[in-house]
Amino acid sequence: MQLADMIQKRQSVRRYEKTPVSPEQIAQIRAFIAAMKPLYADIQVKAELIEKDAVKSLFPWVTPQVIAIFSEDKEGAMENVGFLYQQLDLFLQSIGLGTCWLGVGRPSEDAIFAAAGQDGLQYVIMMSFGYPKEALYRDSVHDFHRKALADIADTADARLEPARLAPSSMNSQPWYFVHDGELLHLYCVQKGVDKAKKLNRLDAGIALAHLYVSNMDTFVFTKKAVPERKGYGYIGSVRI
Ligand SMILES: Cc1cc2nc3c(=O)[nH]c(=O)nc-3n(C[C@H](O)[C@H](O)[C@H](O)COP(=O)(O)O)c2cc1C
Repeated sequence: MQLADMIQKRQSVRRYEKTPVSPEQIAQIRAFIAAMKPLYADIQVKAELIEKDAVKSLFPWVTPQVIAIFSEDKEGAMENVGFLYQQLDLFLQSIGLGTCWLGVGRPSEDAIFAAAGQDGLQYVIMMSFGYPKEALYRDSVHDFHRKALADIADTADARLEPARLAPSSMNSQPWYFVHDGELLHLYCVQKGVDKAKKLNRLDAGIALAHLYVSNMDTFVFTKKAVPERKGYGYIGSVRI
């Protein structure tokens, strides 16, 4: 199944079987992670599979295994993580696994050190994944609770539908696109505490991942000198 086909039906899953994912599927997942396309190739990112016992979380539904994501702390790191790991989110769903990003909670300190601390990378976020105990897919695109196309861009543009449907932290959908000739400049809301600002940038990377998988042959990401938008940060510009 194509990753782009997942965009119209995916949903976060929060009820799971207790069975760990099979070693064959874990191998498939590792191979996919190694082949994902980054937004910034010069930012080092690492994923570690950690056991539920090494996760501090308030959620009773956290899966037996969790993917913990670490990154170099550089400009662009958050959108890079969102862009990379939303590809994984779609892939997991395409092989019949449920997923949910986990912005709340973190690995225990020991697990952080054992997993990636030695490389000097910073912990960013986790992703739960496993065999779903509830519907993996939405029945229809009408089941998405999302802003209208006209509210996420200066002009309603059907090409932005994959970005419109993207998941985001607390469903905040902080992205906004501005047309400029062939380019779409992407901004995201930059208000609130530092963690919220970071997650907003990660969310913007997720929206970009949906545009990428829907336009794999033509997608180009660049940075331009663009006008500032009050209350927003600039993420980058895309041609799709
Ligand atoms: C960066 C990020 C962090 C998230 N953190 C959590 C979380 O900690 N707990 C949770 O239940 N859902 C979390 N979610 C899931 C969102 O609530 C969900 O994606 C959003 O409400 C849209 O719903 P959908 O994914 O079913 O389309 C997170 C999503 C993203 C993108």
